[in-house]
Amino acid sequence: MMKQPVGIFDSGFGGLTVMKEIVQLLPQYDYIYLGDNARAPYGSRSFQTVYDYTLQAVQWLFKQQCPIVILACNTASAKALRNIQQNHLPNHWPERRVLGVIRPTSEVIGNYSATKKVGVLATTGTVESNSYKIEIDKFFPEVEVYQQACPLWVPLIENGEQNSEGADYFVRQDVQKLFAQNGQIDTLLLACTHYPLLLDKIKAAADRPVTIISQGEIVAKSFQHYLERHPELEQQISQQATRAFFTTDDTETFNRKASVFYASAVEAQQAELQ
Ligand code: DGL
Repeated sequence: MMKQPVGIFDSGFGGLTVMKEIVQLLPQYDYIYLGDNARAPYGSRSFQTVYDYTLQAVQWLFKQQCPIVILACNTASAKALRNIQQNHLPNHWPERRVLGVIRPTSEVIGNYSATKKVGVLATTGTVESNSYKIEIDKFFPEVEVYQQACPLWVPLIENGEQNSEGADYFVRQDVQKLFAQNGQIDTLLLACTHYPLLLDKIKAAADRPVTIISQGEIVAKSFQHYLERHPELEQQISQQATRAFFTTDDTETFNRKASVFYASAVEAQQAELQ
């Protein structure tokens, strides 16, 4: 059996914040990152479109021989993961696995809140899917979940405007709308893998003490435990500590912007999904 890399997918750059943590925790494995930057953001697209795009990306990573693909994107996890796991994999790729970011986050988020009121900041697609409410309720039925869609945050970040005054304005507006839903929210979940880049602005916009949770570390730990529980999959992953980056858009632009998310230089290659 040939050993092969882990695939990591996001609509754009956001998944790099998750990959950074996974690589830090599990540096021995090989990884292939795919960003569908040409079609990002996914956040306000329909269920069908997000499913079609995500499936194309997963199939592309499977063609690179990845035995496991992590959807490091909440929107794709919310709108495409279940369908891929339940319908596509059993019929076409029964040996392969696709994992998401919503379940691992939901399994632990209730532990951070004393008031048992958690605020979820996410894309419109993730909020409308109600995935966090449904999943968190399975693990923490006592926790009340308040959601706020932040439709402009991903476009701002994808366009390199995360440090601008415009970003300040929209972050403040959405964070305040979330707190207006319930004054006792004491934990904010950044339920979009792009949002760690706005952490300082989110902190400043929260005019009260709150715990702000990014997903990268949580997803990395959960992946580590998953591989411990599934040694038959772990044995299929190659271990030469290589990292390859692919984008559906211009590679130069990707290289320039990606380092902000990944915290080291990357050299991307072009991927054709259709
Ligand atoms: N990073 C993706 C997420 O976690 C962004 C989705 C988008 O492309 O709008 O939801």
